[in-house]
Amino acid sequence: MKLQNFAEVAPQIAITDDAALAHGAWREAAEEALATTGAVLLRGDIRAADAVERALLVLSDQLLEDAFWSTPRSKVLGKTLTATEYPSPRTIQLHSEMAYMKVWPRFVAFHALEVAAEGGQTTVCDIDAVSAALGALLELFDRKGVTYHRTFQKGVDIPWQQAFQTQNRSDVERVGASFGMKVEWLANDALSTSHTAQGCVTAAHGQLIYFNQSHLFHSSLLDPRIRQGLEKLYGPGRLPRDATFGDGAPIETDQIDAVRAAFERYQTAMCWREGDLLILDNMRFAHGRLPFAGSRRVHVAMAKQESAPVRRVLPLPVLS
Ligand SMILES: [Fe+2]
Repeated sequence: MKLQNFAEVAPQIAITDDAALAHGAWREAAEEALATTGAVLLRGDIRAADAVERALLVLSDQLLEDAFWSTPRSKVLGKTLTATEYPSPRTIQLHSEMAYMKVWPRFVAFHALEVAAEGGQTTVCDIDAVSAALGALLELFDRKGVTYHRTFQKGVDIPWQQAFQTQNRSDVERVGASFGMKVEWLANDALSTSHTAQGCVTAAHGQLIYFNQSHLFHSSLLDPRIRQGLEKLYGPGRLPRDATFGDGAPIETDQIDAVRAAFERYQTAMCWREGDLLILDNMRFAHGRLPFAGSRRVHVAMAKQESAPVRRVLPLPVLS
């Protein structure tokens, strides 16, 4: 199925080049677009390696670090990161950035420096539409929250040193404590963590919004044979990633399948042009990535820390 091109529906502002981006004359129009629709595409010949963080600094003085890394990335410079470095044949599922934490960025920006010869579109999905499709399940997520379980074993998933950006166990314990995380050291320098965060946030008019990453952590993502093999090797409850409801009850496979189906139903694809810079309201649009062939370079930065689970009203439907 051909996906709708998000560039055709997102509010667009023409930006000549890096100097025009730095000048910031676009700020008011971008703020208006973000406040009403939750997205803005700055389209032009933007080339600087750190353009994505310069753009966000025009909108917010608070650039964020990715404190508890879920996926492999590299720092470019300052607080500019590469987009998640999963191998090109893989799809990155739609998600709200850092929605597995109690603190997350309000804005996520993407800058396309090199567009893949084939595929590689950033998928973008209307979270309000996803939320409306979930019905009673959404209330369950809201009531119970989500607990994320991770076990970092050598050679399985990313190492704890990369997830926490440190070589020291004491740093892990400090960061873990600051996020209310249970930290347990296991044999062979393995680490097990679990923490609970929100299942939903609430829009200003009371509407619930699905805001968690259980669908990225749930054990059903693993091939059943690999899952059984890992459980045999490391014991029950020691999968690299898993998600349950916050009260410890399992999220059933049909429930997580309903979440995935809703994301799939409303996803669009941002068809990049080199020099494009897209800013998303992280509480309005989820993002992901389609597989690609050839080389692709997209830089990412995040800004404006949010923790209050209430989003202002965004009245205009963007996508139908
Ligand atoms: Fe992301």
